[in-house]
Amino acid sequence: MNKTALITGASSGIGAELAREHAKKGGNLILVARRKELLETLKQELEQQYSVSVLAICKDLNQPDATHGLYEQTKDLNVEILINNAGFGLLGAFDQAEIDKIESMIHVNVMALTTLTRLFLPDMLRRNSGKILNIASTASFMPGPLQAVYFATKAYVRSLSWALSEEVRNSSVTVTTLCPGPTRTEFEEKSKMSGTALFEKAKSAQKVAQAGYNAMMKGKRNIVTDRGQHFLIKLLPFVPTKLSLSITRKLQETQPNKNK
Ligand SMILES: NC(=O)c1ccc[n+]([C@@H]2O[C@H](COP(=O)([O-])OP(=O)(O)OC[C@H]3O[C@@H](n4cnc5c(N)ncnc54)[C@H](OP(=O)(O)O)[C@@H]3O)[C@@H](O)[C@H]2O)c1
Repeated sequence: MNKTALITGASSGIGAELAREHAKKGGNLILVARRKELLETLKQELEQQYSVSVLAICKDLNQPDATHGLYEQTKDLNVEILINNAGFGLLGAFDQAEIDKIESMIHVNVMALTTLTRLFLPDMLRRNSGKILNIASTASFMPGPLQAVYFATKAYVRSLSWALSEEVRNSSVTVTTLCPGPTRTEFEEKSKMSGTALFEKAKSAQKVAQAGYNAMMKGKRNIVTDRGQHFLIKLLPFVPTKLSLSITRKLQETQPNKNK
């Protein structure tokens, strides 16, 4: 297989592992993120280990024209797989969060993902071939006190992606949503969630990426990688909203090491 995959947020965590999964299968890659050195190191690793061709593009998806620029730069490279993975969260009360951070979270998690999907999807439909994998989260299934904007961005990603999976149903193009539970990556520290109960049993990024990649290749609509959370999500419609909101809040407040 030498299909080209474009992965945003490929410099670390789940994105870097998704790149490894694709390279293992012999696929070429376009890696996108801000940290050039990490992208170049991953490019070298994958080219040497798997004899694939990798293009590293340094891009800040928070910049207004980044997505259009990225599309112009890559539209002739026959992108068969688009993986919208770049994203970040931030723990804390909404009224105290920096407005800049809120705006850039919405820009990266929502706007960039939407625009890239809109730009690449018509080419895939014209060829009647292609796969899109959008990274949401188990956070997409409920509102998240103390991470209100992050949970809302992920609810948007899941809603958009599920709707598109139906819109393209009569073609050979597929749209898959990956909903990871807590996963051991830089996300935990960057979003100030280190030490919360949620991350006590975090999964490895490699396992999450492998499950997401396989689901995408099979053209599945959705994949939740955390079994425990998957079970709880299925129960959600039967739980009073007041209770689910307070449990979600508590999970994010708890410091597991506090009482040890
Ligand atoms: N870890 C978890 O527990 C978890 C759970 C559910 C969902 N997720 C989702 O999984 C995805 C990947 O996160 P991760 O856990 O792998 O965390 P991570 O290691 O922090 O990776 C985030 C990636 O996004 C990129 N990124 C962030 N802002 C960007 C920007 N402005 N422009 C371009 N790239 C940007 C980062 O690259 P640069 O910094 O180099 O730009 C990095 O490669 C995210 O969408 C996250 O919301 C994570």
